[in-house]
Amino acid sequence: MKLNWAERWVVNNPVRVLEQGFHVRWFGRVKPLRARDVVLEVGCGRGAGAVLTVEQLGPAHVCAMDLDHQMIRRGMRYVAPSLRSKISFYVGDLESLPHASASMDAVFCYGVLHHVPDWRRAVSEIHRVLKPGGSLYLEELYPALYQNFITRHLLAHPEEDRFRSSDLKAALDAAGLKLLDALELKAVGILAVLSKAGGE
Ligand SMILES: C[S@@+](CC[C@H](N)C(=O)[O-])C[C@H]1O[C@@H](n2cnc3c(N)ncnc32)[C@H](O)[C@@H]1O
Repeated sequence: MKLNWAERWVVNNPVRVLEQGFHVRWFGRVKPLRARDVVLEVGCGRGAGAVLTVEQLGPAHVCAMDLDHQMIRRGMRYVAPSLRSKISFYVGDLESLPHASASMDAVFCYGVLHHVPDWRRAVSEIHRVLKPGGSLYLEELYPALYQNFITRHLLAHPEEDRFRSSDLKAALDAAGLKLLDALELKAVGILAVLSKAGGE
């Protein structure tokens, strides 16, 4: 589901870039990327996460996708010319990823699953495109933050079948994504690194 005006303002904001910088540094401490890694960022928004990933974690390439063509256009403008060969953008849907199975070394997903109506399908798509041993770097929010008595009037999200901490962790585990480490405020949200079984 695309963002409304209020959430566009929240994510296309310098404060969000500072916050994502913290997330990327923590991800790198838990499980660094390798220089040969090709990674996918789902729901990339205007591309700040993809830029931070290239600058701080140094993969070979980031495929950055979003449902919203306006975000993709912003992303193409946001990335400095010197980084453009490292990041490719496309419009797509996380519920049906246009990538071969076991083709990605890592998937980054910053605050996107709670926007997806069939989020369990999205989790299974992420698992499908990851190589054995590949990692999911995840930031997610829970309904107490985005569907409370204030935010439910300001923000637009799917309303059916939303997940809390235990639902999300159970779905990730059932899909075959094992938790390596997490920072979590149980009512608010989670930052987590997970791994698909197998690999080196
Ligand atoms: C809260 S924003 C986060 C943007 C960016 N990842 C960030 O952290 O600043 C959620 C993003 O997910 C995108 N999105 C929502 N549903 C999607 C889907 N089914 N497939 C791909 N992107 C989706 C939205 O267009 C939006 O850009």
